[in-house]
This record gives sequence, C-alpha cells and structure tokens, in this order.
Amino acid sequence: MDFSLTEEQIAVRDAARDFAHTELLPGVIERDDQQKFPAEQIKKMGELGFMGMMVDPKYDGGGMDTTSYVLAMEEISKIDASASVCMSVNNSLVCWGLEKYGAEEQKEKYLKPLARGEIIGAFCLSEPEAGSDATSQRTTAENKGDHYVLNGTKNWITNGNSASVYLVIAQTDPEKGYKGISAFVVEKGMEGFTVGKKEDKLGIRGSDTHSLMFSDVKVPVENRIGEEGFGFKFAMNTLNGGRIGIAAQALGIASGAYEFALAYSKERKSFGKEISKHQAIAFKLADMATQIEAARLMCLKAAWLKDQKKDYAHASAMAKLYASQVAMDTTVEAVQIHGGYGYVKEYHVERLMRDAKITQIYEGTSEIQKIVISRELLK
Ligand code: CAA
Repeated sequence: MDFSLTEEQIAVRDAARDFAHTELLPGVIERDDQQKFPAEQIKKMGELGFMGMMVDPKYDGGGMDTTSYVLAMEEISKIDASASVCMSVNNSLVCWGLEKYGAEEQKEKYLKPLARGEIIGAFCLSEPEAGSDATSQRTTAENKGDHYVLNGTKNWITNGNSASVYLVIAQTDPEKGYKGISAFVVEKGMEGFTVGKKEDKLGIRGSDTHSLMFSDVKVPVENRIGEEGFGFKFAMNTLNGGRIGIAAQALGIASGAYEFALAYSKERKSFGKEISKHQAIAFKLADMATQIEAARLMCLKAAWLKDQKKDYAHASAMAKLYASQVAMDTTVEAVQIHGGYGYVKEYHVERLMRDAKITQIYEGTSEIQKIVISRELLK
C-alpha cells in the first residue's frame, strides 16, 4: 500500500495552502462578523481552477482526481470554511452532477462556465419539511409538454444568492413516491424565481445561505437532468460524492484549529514554561493529531475509491460521520488550549468551533450517515 502523494497532488495542496494564507486569512474574521460572502476570493479561486477541479478538461475543468480535491478542500477549510462550502457545492454537487448526468447541451451551456469558475452553482434539495426525509418533496414541476411549471420553496440553500445556476429537485408525479421526483437546471432571472431571506447562522457566516421561492417558473423541458423520475437517484448519487467534500471540510476545520492551538501552545507561557511543555496540553495535542490523521485517512480512502470507480457511498458516509465528530471535538479542545483567548474572535478557534457544527448537519446529518452505513452493513 502506497500512502505517498504524487508531485501534482502535492503542488495542488501547496497552492491551496498558499492561497488560503495569502487571500483568505486577511479579512476572514470580518467576513464572519459581517456575514459577508467572499465574492472576490471565490472569483480568484475560480481563476486558479479550484471551482471545477475534477471536471474533464474538455468541459474546461481541471481534470484532477478526487484526492487532489480533498487535499485542496482541507487547506481552504483550515482558514475559511465559508469559502470552502461554496467550493465544495460547486465542485462535487453541481459540476459533478451535471458532468455525470447532464445532457451535452447542458454541459456546454452550464458546466463549462461553472468549471471555469465564472459562475457559481447551487444544489436545491432541502425544503421546509424535507431535510433528512428527502423523498417528501413539496416543490412540484408540472409537465406542460415543452416546459415544466415549478412551484414551491427550498430552504437552507448554500450559494443561494450568489449562484447563477440552480439544480432543483422537484416532484413531477406525487403518486410515484421517490420515483416521481425529477431534477432541473433553473437559471437565476427566470420569471417567478425569487431569492428569499438570508439565514443568520451560528457558523460559516460568510457563506450565502438563503431560501428560494418558485412561483409558476417556466423551465424548458431540455433543462431536465436525465429522465423524468430520476431526480431522487440523481440527488442521492450526487450527495454520495458531495459527502467526501464535506468530510474534507470537517477535516480542514479540525486541522486548522489544531494548527492554531499548536502554534499558540508553543508561544504562550505559564508556570515558567511554554504551555505545550505541560503534559495536560501535550496530551490534548497528541489526541487531536491522532484523530485528525484517522479522519484524513478516511477522506483519502473515500476519494481513492471514487477515483478507482469502486463503490464509495459507504466510505464517504463513514468519512463524513467521523471527520465531522473530529471537527467538533478538536475545535472545542483548541478553544480550551487557548483559554480566555480562545473565546474571543481574534484567535480564530472560536470561529472554527462554530463552523464545525454544520458539518454534522448538512449533506445529511450524522444520523443520516449512520443510516447509509448501516444499510450497507445489513445488505
Ligand atoms: N446512494 C444511492 N442510492 C440511494 C442512496 C444512496 N446513498 N440512498 C438511497 N438510495 C436509493 C435507494 O437504493 C432506493 O432506490 P431503489 O428502490 O432502486 O433501491 C431509493 O434511493 C429510495 O431509497 P430509500 O427508500 O432508502 O429512501 P428513504 O426515504 O428511506 O431515504 C435517505 C433515504 C438515505 C434517508 C435519504 O433520504 C437521504 O440521504 N436523506 C438526506 C438528504 C440530504 O443529505 N440532504 C442534504 C441536502 S443538500 C446540502 O446540504 C447541500 C448544501 O447546501 C451543503
């Protein structure tokens, strides 16, 4: 078994690390405080190829493997999880979903500018009454021959206002249960489509989370992704890969907090020596580093399985379940190591602690990951 990274993977990781420190770190505290979307920074990430990393170069993507994506996600998330969720949704839900299941014309029209990072995408599954229970879609899409008429509301949509392209899941035939759900590409500006209120969140406050309203929105039939009735499978298959991105985000939040805590513990003195020299702190650092390494290996294993074209649904759910728990545990410890300084904004770790929680909620709660994992075990 070879755990080493290729030269290209190392270069991608280092470029992401460099970008995070030079472009995302300055201003990250203010953006969190003011709930300001990192628009300029995301534009630069697009120019550097971070928004369509795994897309085939023939659709203007980076043609990179999932391992490189995980490495980049970890580095960006160490500093700015609001930027990294935008990156994750664009890469592994929107671009991947369109590349895998979209028609050629949809790839030309939507995937190419998304992969070039010129526009941003959003993935719209959750509703006021359909979060974990994703089959209970209330948004409807009525087939009118050459177009569908969309009505309903979506909630908690990442990139809700900043996106130009929205992959929307809706009910086309309520009689058929999950087999009556379909997926559509909806453009911002289509008549009857409005962006609702921005959520005031605990963490990832720089990310742009909104509700969306569809009122008699006419969506051309050529904007349907795959066959009618394929929408639920589309969402589930896409989320299997999306969870690798969120697992890597959780890993980055954990390793970012650990790195801040390690640096602080070597500077801060108490009882006549650096606090890292007190076993109480050194043991915390040892536990954090061990858990982070285990989470990293799980993320890389899921990425490797995906790249090998093997089944990765189970591994991505495990990676997300574990990495998000590690994110919670290590960020709490990082605050503890900082003492009073950890409780104020200047030292970054309180933000990472707030950011960590969402990784146990979106793209399936931890309980949903356990459903996915246990179903596979009990097959
Ligand atoms: N991969 C592939 N197929 C899957 C699947 C998976 N992980 N889970 C279910 N399916 C398939 C099933 O095999 C079944 O198909 P067949 O009948 O052909 O076998 C079909 O889907 C229906 O499955 P179930 O009967 O098992 O459906 P269920 O109602 O019991 O629900 C669930 C399954 C796993 C709980 C699912 O509803 C789920 O994953 N819920 C969570 C949804 C979620 O992650 N939402 C996140 C929103 S997006 C987001 O957060 C993005 C963002 O902004 C960051």
